[in-house]
Amino acid sequence: METVLSGIRSTGNLHLGNYFGAVRNFIKMQDENNCYFFIADYHSLTTHPTPDNLKNSSKQILIEYLAAGLDPEKSTLYIQSDVPEVLELYLFLNMNAYLGELERCNSFKDKVRQQPNNVNAGLLTYPTLMAADILIHRADKVPVGKDQEQHLEMTRTFANRFNNLYKVNYFKEPEAYNFGENLVKIPGLDGSLKMGKSEGNALYLMDPPEVIRKKVMRAKTDQGPTEENQTKSQEIENLFTIMRHVSTPETCEYFNDAYNHCQIRYGDMKKQLAEDIIRCCEPIRERILDLSQQEKYLEEVMDAGAAKARANARKTLREVREIIGFSNKRF
Ligand code: TYM
Repeated sequence: METVLSGIRSTGNLHLGNYFGAVRNFIKMQDENNCYFFIADYHSLTTHPTPDNLKNSSKQILIEYLAAGLDPEKSTLYIQSDVPEVLELYLFLNMNAYLGELERCNSFKDKVRQQPNNVNAGLLTYPTLMAADILIHRADKVPVGKDQEQHLEMTRTFANRFNNLYKVNYFKEPEAYNFGENLVKIPGLDGSLKMGKSEGNALYLMDPPEVIRKKVMRAKTDQGPTEENQTKSQEIENLFTIMRHVSTPETCEYFNDAYNHCQIRYGDMKKQLAEDIIRCCEPIRERILDLSQQEKYLEEVMDAGAAKARANARKTLREVREIIGFSNKRF
């Protein structure tokens, strides 16, 4: 049985990118694997150093995980900060992570542009903390969106470096994974390549139908095709990409044909797209509202998940300490 692990930062509600890039894969994988899914609250401090309400943000992600279909009977669900062992592994990995490779990481470069007044060491070492999350459970597969591919590559580098340095074959090489397909990147409705919390262009699972309709109807489009089979502009390509995730193949083909024959009416396409997004989100939204009332159940899920994740993390850490030379005996 393989070990699967993934996480989501606790900086806002889940959006369609998180869902199609990551969560939907978790759900498909939980029946046949040993699964760990966590809420990355330490990571959220790299961008939100003084969060308004750290605990509530984590609780909200837990509710949305459960509402989307994660089953605590099958998977271990936990909050990153409930397993502080990860920080000791993070420290060990940082000792062999080099400034140059950390500075070259795309997510670091993006954040330097987005928050030039807060280029903190946590941002620089974000990939080593992520590697620690993965390696502490010695995961084989990590279901994530396309934007996390480089972080997985770095995790493999850190794992191999550890093995070579200490002449062991301890850590496995984890791979970024999307259930039987290429990694996914859900674009924004504003013509940008990525839907994201910090990009301000997201459709949330929590959005009520009228909000989804409004956001989709406002999506950027162009003047429309003037020649048959014309190459699509980025904003139109984005609408089609989202449609491929939420609509039937027949619907996608219908609008694609209409586009290719210069007969498309973007208003009609958006209306259909909005309804298909609503159909996908509405059951999840209903369960979110229901689960929000179940405090005691949520606490139980978190306590059980923390205990299981922590026991496994302790075991890895004990072995890592031994390998490095910090044995349990004093001398
Ligand atoms: P975060 O919170 O930014 O994103 C969570 C997951 O959602 C995916 N995702 C997308 N996928 C497709 N299209 C999009 N537009 C889109 N936006 C987000 C991300 O790829 C991710 O899978 N670093 C991680 C959190 C993390 C983690 C880990 C993940 C911390 N430690 C260990 C896996 C393993 C992140 O940025 O999450």
